[in-house]
Amino acid sequence: MPLNLGDTVPDFSCDSSVGQIHYYDHVGDEHWSILCSHPSDFTPVCSTELGTLAKLLPQFERRNCKVLALSCDNAESHRKWIKDIDASGYCGKTTSTVSYPILADEERALAVKFGMLDPEEKDEKGQPLTCRAVFIVDDHKKLRATILYPATTGRNFYEILRVVDSLQLTDEYPVATPANWERGEKVCVTPSTPDEVAQVVLGDFSVVKVPSGKKYLRLSKDPGYKTPKVLKRGMVETILGTEYGAKLLPTLGRLVVAFALGGFSSSFASSKKKEKPVLTTPQTSGWKKR
Ligand code: BEZ
Repeated sequence: MPLNLGDTVPDFSCDSSVGQIHYYDHVGDEHWSILCSHPSDFTPVCSTELGTLAKLLPQFERRNCKVLALSCDNAESHRKWIKDIDASGYCGKTTSTVSYPILADEERALAVKFGMLDPEEKDEKGQPLTCRAVFIVDDHKKLRATILYPATTGRNFYEILRVVDSLQLTDEYPVATPANWERGEKVCVTPSTPDEVAQVVLGDFSVVKVPSGKKYLRLSKDPGYKTPKVLKRGMVETILGTEYGAKLLPTLGRLVVAFALGGFSSSFASSKKKEKPVLTTPQTSGWKKR
């Protein structure tokens, strides 16, 4: 039976690049986890994906989320391949190695259990390979989201982070995240939430006027986001490596120039762009849907 959203993800044991893994023990009772399958070791797209996952590991850790990868090659092959990935440059400047486990599902037991096999992609023996699946599992071991891509399309791991952000935020507050949402942007009040409850839990919200006259498109600020007063040392490189960082760069650049010219206040005051907030863990509002 394929796993559906909301199902409990079953426990399993499997050899891996870091030795035998017992899934429930490895993840523990308080962590989320993502399980990412890929077709095969020593292949180009998979190498870029696993390197990128290593680079983004601190961002998953910040979200209390463990990372596991999986393919149908053996653990020795994984360990040799990791040396290539480490040297490929995809792990980024601050991460030296793929430290999360790569599961060695040689018998394809997990791939079958989790519905990860792609009948279109076969190895040299004609056996089906795993596709690019992602399972996002919460701290109660419930499957919360999945994606399934073919071997020829590498995944966007910023999107996986974004989905984890959305799931964790919407577990805590009566909100849903709109198209292309990222942390710090406006969120939708869920349809089942009365105005009075939204006002108390979320504060002021706006109602978008639509021709039907129905007041269903209610927007509030992201209730799990805080604007930092100071950028802490060591955070800068991490922030600049994210999509948020890319958006921050013009403002930071202006700040540096302004400091250099000694005209900090007038230069910054003339900026039309607001300071972008950075990541914080969602604040518990007392409102919990689960
Ligand atoms: C790759 O990871 O590059 C790949 C693997 C299998 C089929 C196509 C591409």
